[in-house]
Amino acid sequence: MPTVKLMPQGIEVMLSKGSSLTDLEFELYGQESIPFGCKVGACGACVIEVIDGVACLGNKTEEEASFLDMLGYSGDSFRLACQCRVNGIATIRAAARNS
Ligand code: FES
Repeated sequence: MPTVKLMPQGIEVMLSKGSSLTDLEFELYGQESIPFGCKVGACGACVIEVIDGVACLGNKTEEEASFLDMLGYSGDSFRLACQCRVNGIATIRAAARNS
């Protein structure tokens, strides 16, 4: 079953295949998770660093890649969590804020 491990908390959450990472808010209600905002790929609040399993979070669109570049997060390991669809096992953490 698709599983997301959230660091540094070390919390593992099983999600159904194709789920959005925004489901973490429901699954981890009351616990610190990813800081979601718009949930449509427009605000940049939910930038994550994928520590392992980047291929298990779906494809990054050109729009997402361009937006991440603009925010200063270049490279394959950065994603907008709200744009990810889980299809395997991945380890992630909220990205440090670029200033
Ligand atoms: S929540 Fe706004 S870009 Fe992901």
